[in-house]
Amino acid sequence: MAVNNVQGRHVRQSSKNTLLKVVILGDGGVGKSCLMNRFVSNHFDEHSFHTIGVEFLNKDIEINGEIYTLQIWDTAGQERFKSLRTPFYRGSDICLLTYAVDDRASFRNLQMWRSEFLFYADVREGAAFPFIVVGNKVDVGAGRREVAGDEARAWCAEHGGLLYVETSAKDATNVEEAFSLAVEGWARLEARLDRPYVGETVDLRRQPPEQRSSCCLAAGSAAE
Ligand code: GTP
Ligand code: MG
Repeated sequence: MAVNNVQGRHVRQSSKNTLLKVVILGDGGVGKSCLMNRFVSNHFDEHSFHTIGVEFLNKDIEINGEIYTLQIWDTAGQERFKSLRTPFYRGSDICLLTYAVDDRASFRNLQMWRSEFLFYADVREGAAFPFIVVGNKVDVGAGRREVAGDEARAWCAEHGGLLYVETSAKDATNVEEAFSLAVEGWARLEARLDRPYVGETVDLRRQPPEQRSSCCLAAGSAAE
């Protein structure tokens, strides 16, 4: 059975397998390809080349007894490749906004990446989209760090309470966790979108008569 949600195009392949399109964005060199390769093949390349356009890989992940197939799209962060990456944003279910903790400019650009994603993915309600901010390269240590965790968390809070995680693709810190947190965030939002009226039951007979619509009046009248 295929199910399309409001924003993305997640597909329920069977009763227990959901396909999610995950896009990784961020400046050139912050470690997007290394994060994907660490997650998918548990491999790290010290001399990773800049990505040209986009590349994708699949990986299954189990969360709370449910299997998710993540289709991970790694994009080229360099400005000159903008026209090659943006056509791939549509239909995304999750977006990783990535910066490197030793590169302040990449942190400043998160706002630009978020806007670029919302525009080209054609997402109308940005506040309801499962972004996760990823601060990569934490292995560099305090001496080379240019963005403090608290500053990044404050930015996430200001931008609608985005999830935040610090990772190292190099030493594998929190890489699995970043993807599982992102899926959990997606699942929470999805549950809210699927059941918008939960908890809003109204007892029509308790409303004053002038607020009843004609159809409710008839039902209310019959019960009185
Ligand atoms: P573009 O493809 O140009 O957008 O860059 P990217 O974001 O994919 O960066 P990439 O993964 O190619 O990594 C760039 C450089 O950072 C490489 O030399 C990596 O070895 C290094 N790198 C990636 N992740 C880490 C990390 O967690 N720690 C450290 N110290 N270096 C990293
Ligand atoms: Mg890359």
